[in-house]
Amino acid sequence: MVAGLFFISLFSLAVASPATRSNFVLHERRDAVPSSFVKVGPAPTTATIPLRIGLFSNDFPGLEETLYAVSTPGSARYGQHLTLEEAKAFMEPTTESLNAVTAWLDSHGLKATVTSPYGEWLRVDVPVSKANEMLNANYETFTHIETGKQIIRTLSVSLPEELTAHIEALHPATGFGRPLTVGRAPVVTASSRPAGNITSDAVPASCATTVTPACLQAMYGIPTTLATQKTNSIAVAGFIEQFAQTADLKTFLTRFRTDLPSTTTFALRTFDGGSNPQGAGDAGIEANLDIQYTVGVASGVPVTFVSGGETFSDGALEGFLDIINNLSGLATVPQVLTTSYGEDEPDQTAANFNKLCNAYAAYGTRGGSILFASGDGGVAGGQSQSCTNFIAAFPSGCPFMTSVGAVSGIPPSETAASFSSGGFSRVFTQPSYQTSAVQTYLTALGSTNAGKFTPTGRAFPDVSAQGVDFDIVNGGTLEGVSGTSCSSPTFASVIGLVNDRLIAAGKSPLGFLNPFFYANPGIFNDVTLGHNTGCNTNGFPAKAGWDPVTGLGTPNFPAILAAALAL
Ligand SMILES: *[C@@H]1O[C@H](CO)[C@@H](O)[C@H](O)[C@H]1NC(C)=O
Ligand SMILES: *[C@@H]1O[C@H](CO)[C@@H](O)[C@H](O)[C@H]1NC(C)=O
Repeated sequence: MVAGLFFISLFSLAVASPATRSNFVLHERRDAVPSSFVKVGPAPTTATIPLRIGLFSNDFPGLEETLYAVSTPGSARYGQHLTLEEAKAFMEPTTESLNAVTAWLDSHGLKATVTSPYGEWLRVDVPVSKANEMLNANYETFTHIETGKQIIRTLSVSLPEELTAHIEALHPATGFGRPLTVGRAPVVTASSRPAGNITSDAVPASCATTVTPACLQAMYGIPTTLATQKTNSIAVAGFIEQFAQTADLKTFLTRFRTDLPSTTTFALRTFDGGSNPQGAGDAGIEANLDIQYTVGVASGVPVTFVSGGETFSDGALEGFLDIINNLSGLATVPQVLTTSYGEDEPDQTAANFNKLCNAYAAYGTRGGSILFASGDGGVAGGQSQSCTNFIAAFPSGCPFMTSVGAVSGIPPSETAASFSSGGFSRVFTQPSYQTSAVQTYLTALGSTNAGKFTPTGRAFPDVSAQGVDFDIVNGGTLEGVSGTSCSSPTFASVIGLVNDRLIAAGKSPLGFLNPFFYANPGIFNDVTLGHNTGCNTNGFPAKAGWDPVTGLGTPNFPAILAAALAL
């Protein structure tokens, strides 16, 4: 803390507007710097905070009610998804909120830009000294120990009393996040893969050690015939300069999908100045995996690689907000969005997480399914780390998306992958669609791990799919990769193909999946073998029915399609 500057700012406040000086109300506070960061010192006074201001939606309860009405089987409004304008009517802030916040910014000589199609997010660049003054904050510089990357955050942030009813979330403030890193799909050796039983003649024996599109088609009954609907699509999220290579996709298809036209490729959409360069050194293992197991499995379903720039790459939150806000601005949203990135729930603030989760709810009302890899840290968060109490992975604790865990082996002997993240959110309470399934599990679990998790939290993952030793082509070379990063695109392909058949039959796409899934546990291959690990424990064991390692199980395409067509 530079005492002189601090006093100058107090002095100017007192002189400039003693009569109108606000009473501050604490908005959020963090007791300590997260252990993965160290404090460097005060933020440079010349620095600018790219402040995001999340305004309260005028009627989020109404949106949530609508989400369940259009997503719950048997509801009179099932499948009646909303237009952009209809969703906006719930999500937009009140004029009163917008005016109050605009007047506050005006009084500081600032002007915000609206950055979301529903109008609930604003952005304004604020010099550090002004941000400290406006938010009664103390923005400082912190270094992420592992990567050396510096970020500017404050351990406490307040709002003028008259704005607390209007501003729901602020970023960057006390939410740290970690720089997104590659490595969610580690290269592994075949020998580290559990053997599993070969129980079906239809599944090539090689699938026990190496997974290819043919394995997934055989295991899950995924059709090889071409999809027909061109309005249907799967969006694949791309971050941190992970680029999907068209040449690698062509090599992959030529080798593994000889039945598909070799010209089959993907479209590109960008946000925040993203790109998708195709140079020799640009191949990204995560992006190639995600693209190869959507284009290569969801035969003929249009796939779009949605590549974000580095502009807001401090952590997952900025990228996740920007991609969902960008896609939500389309008249017809991609019916499936799959993301294989994430971090740990405690890195985020509850308010920001809630705001992101609300955007996912709105996406569901529009007829879109949000799928995320559950994470690769077992019960220790998104990636393995030392811990005492279990850490939920972000954003799997959000009840309005579908979290996908990982398994290996061949049905009916599929086995939970030990790295498959699963557990219970400490931010979101358990949604009613899953309470019965989760209670059955908790009863069977007994006192195992008691005290290390919150049994009343939103439980995840919801479902799972193969995630060990996938063959991909990366930079022209065949590589084996493992992780829930394999599982989410695989599951996304299943939903993309089901949507193709639904649209062809004149029906709505599936949209928000969870109420349908939990009401139909029989459409999955139940996984009862194995367990995850983390925090020096054996994590959670897989059990009959839902469990916090493999969810409801892996997809049985014919069963999911039949249930979906009957809706
Ligand atoms: C294979 O199946 C048998 C019989 O169900 C079971 O006892 C055995 O544990 C299984 N092996 C593996 C590796 O899953
Ligand atoms: C999404 O990003 C594209 C490309 O940068 C841009 O043209 C478009 O306006 C963005 N849409 C929204 C709703 O932000």
